[in-house]
Amino acid sequence: MLLIGAAGSGKSTLARKHFKSTEIVSSDALRAMVSDDEADQSASGDAFHLLRLIAMKRLRRGRLTVIDATNVQRPARKSLLAIAAQTSAPTTAIVLNLPLDTCLARNRTRLNRLVDPDVVEKQVADLTESLHGLAQEGFQRVYVLDNTEDIDSICILRS
Ligand SMILES: Nc1ncnc2c1ncn2[C@@H]1O[C@H](COP(=O)(O)OP(=O)(O)O)[C@@H](O)[C@H]1O
Ligand SMILES: [Mg+2]
Repeated sequence: MLLIGAAGSGKSTLARKHFKSTEIVSSDALRAMVSDDEADQSASGDAFHLLRLIAMKRLRRGRLTVIDATNVQRPARKSLLAIAAQTSAPTTAIVLNLPLDTCLARNRTRLNRLVDPDVVEKQVADLTESLHGLAQEGFQRVYVLDNTEDIDSICILRS
């Protein structure tokens, strides 16, 4: 299951609400695991290497796996879809498609780290560009949540 959304859209909050901690593979957490700093962009290569490795190991065991990363760029989604395909795992995309203003406002409330507003703006633009073709990328299911009410009330079936 791929969460897709800019920083501040609420991916980690949604993941924590619906899934066990062991089911969530988070790029921020893995950056912190290798560098003690989840904001250290120089650790991204190592973090995503681990993210793909863990996803592969879990999916080979048939374990539900939730990828908590922005996933707003197609190549990032493609590499994860390829891992799912190798393990014949079904794939679901959950898109947190909130307006830039909401992401920026929430980003400012984060306790652990603030993402540069320009980076958030670029992520929202990348996501907007991705939306029209998402259904053709190969996910079995795509859910696009366009407002906070839908995000707060979503019911996720584990099947
Ligand atoms: N559904 C929500 N309602 C209100 N505040 C939220 C909601 N989801 C996230 N937030 C707040 O927004 C900020 C960013 O959320 P977070 O889950 O860390 O986003 P992301 O993982 O996408 O960067 C946090 O301070 C969080 O408490
Ligand atoms: Mg997060």
